Amino acid sequence: MRKLLASVLGIALAAAGTFAGEITVGFAQLGAESMWRTANTDSVKGEAARRGINLVFSDAQQKQENQIKAVRSFIAQGVDVIGLPPVVESGWEPVLREAQEAGIPVILTDRRVDTSDESLYTAFLGSNFITEGENAGNWLVRELMGRYGVVKGEVFELVGTVGAAPAIDRKKGFEAVIAKHPNLNIVKSQSGDFTRAKGKEVMEAFIKSPEWDKAATKIIYGHNDDMVLGAIQAIEEAGINPGKECIIIGVDAIADAFEAIAQGKMHCTVECNPLLGPQLFDMVEAVVAGKEVPKTVYSIEGTYDYYCAEALLPWRRTLY
Ligand code: AHR
Repeated sequence: MRKLLASVLGIALAAAGTFAGEITVGFAQLGAESMWRTANTDSVKGEAARRGINLVFSDAQQKQENQIKAVRSFIAQGVDVIGLPPVVESGWEPVLREAQEAGIPVILTDRRVDTSDESLYTAFLGSNFITEGENAGNWLVRELMGRYGVVKGEVFELVGTVGAAPAIDRKKGFEAVIAKHPNLNIVKSQSGDFTRAKGKEVMEAFIKSPEWDKAATKIIYGHNDDMVLGAIQAIEEAGINPGKECIIIGVDAIADAFEAIAQGKMHCTVECNPLLGPQLFDMVEAVVAGKEVPKTVYSIEGTYDYYCAEALLPWRRTLY
């Protein structure tokens, strides 16, 4: 009787769809370098738990070789789907081919890989980093016009991790916009690896450079808010007023950036959405069920500045 009940229940559950806990996803997180990343990890872990999906999670500490090892171990474990936010763009083809040969779909999240063979991954879910760079550039051009009636200034750029898609594309998008304005130029550009500590270090070096002394309109463009917040510390420690003597733009729209803007220490943050968990597991469930998924899904994102930061801060604190 018990066996009969179990098999009837089994058939009913199978008809209703996938068993809770039946799907196993390997997620090779790239690190924990920023508040954005922490929010991204929480979103992935939280959503997997809500859906009863087995999540095998690893943290590569910003090292590609660790991520590759994690993907290989997911292949060996025979997970159903692999989620991969690649730390850098290049060097992924061999391991993606191994996953393909093992019949395990790979969903790229957050960052893209540089490959001409799009069959190596099932889908990409994340931001358009070129658009984010353009958003930062367009905001700056409008701000300069509004303040001075002329687009003129010297940009000190805090670059993200070398070789990472957001570092490459946020630079590309920003440069495409400012290229139309001959008196607006990047005068210093250095990687702060997307961390607050390195952002501060790089800014300390910028302040000591001759370019800083020469700059009439000092603009700081950071590829993420964490580096910018580190830079603001360096600026304040040097006795400079960040809100009054500089124009400061970041990317991510973390709550701490809204707070810095509300305090008058920063001017603008371009949104990059880390809350990808729900969309990722919608895709995972569709892929496991044998359904088609779109090849590319971009997040819809805004740009926030001192007009709205204070009013929006309580709401943003509930997000990330
Ligand atoms: O890939 C997204 C970027 O990675 C975020 O902008 C940054 O904060 C993170 O480290």
